[in-house]
Amino acid sequence: MPVAVILVAAGSGVRLGATMPKAFAPLRGEPLLAHALRGILGCREVGHVIIVAPDSHLDQSRVIAGQRVQGDHPRVDIVAGGSDRSASVKAGLSALGLDDRIVLVHDVARCLTPPDLFSRVIRGVREGHPAVVPGLPVSDTVKVVDDQGRVLDTPDRQSLRGVQTPQGFLREALEDAHVAHPATTSSTDDAGLVERAGGQVWVVTGDHLALKITSPFDLVVAAALLQDGRYAG
Ligand code: CTP
Ligand code: MG
Repeated sequence: MPVAVILVAAGSGVRLGATMPKAFAPLRGEPLLAHALRGILGCREVGHVIIVAPDSHLDQSRVIAGQRVQGDHPRVDIVAGGSDRSASVKAGLSALGLDDRIVLVHDVARCLTPPDLFSRVIRGVREGHPAVVPGLPVSDTVKVVDDQGRVLDTPDRQSLRGVQTPQGFLREALEDAHVAHPATTSSTDDAGLVERAGGQVWVVTGDHLALKITSPFDLVVAAALLQDGRYAG
């Protein structure tokens, strides 16, 4: 079953506060998009990469991809994203090839995600799960609060997982979930759409390197990880 990755990279990165969209912000001299591609290209099972980029940065995305993809494997397509993440995933879905059977959706913001994690998610789908997400146990205690800050509940930490990307799907499961999802609301979690559409989602072990870069602090953490040979880079 051929595997495609939809790499959503069309966000503006308001919380990062850079002068360019987040995918093009430098991390130890390379744009986040280039780092993200390194992880994806390291997984040989991926046959098709769809980069969903800001309309203003389609050419720049093509240059970055062209410098890193040798020959014709994987096939790379670049499409313009939408006004929110769900619209960008939908734009990516429309660029799937006829034979793409397994689809992974990945945030460029998780640009240090190692190839192993892609393989683990793909294996989960190949083993028969229509929707697979990587997750890690949470180390903080999590509280449910109301908008005044009053604690309503403290869920048992044992049953909680912090969920990452890439999230992997049988193509139909992802397409059906997006069709069922109203275009007026956005989603940061494709597996959540599958759940709402009545599908089952499975968790495989995530990876601390799949951390999400949201704020300038996260960029400092990612740079330190890249510099430390025990971890990334
Ligand atoms: N994303 C996208 N298209 C959008 C919005 C988000 O492709 N219209 C992507 C981002 O590029 C990112 C992922 O969705 O890889 C998760 O979004 P987030 O971390 O919130 O990134 P931004 O939306 O860029 O950041 P911010 O919310 O701070 O503006
Ligand atoms: Mg955002």
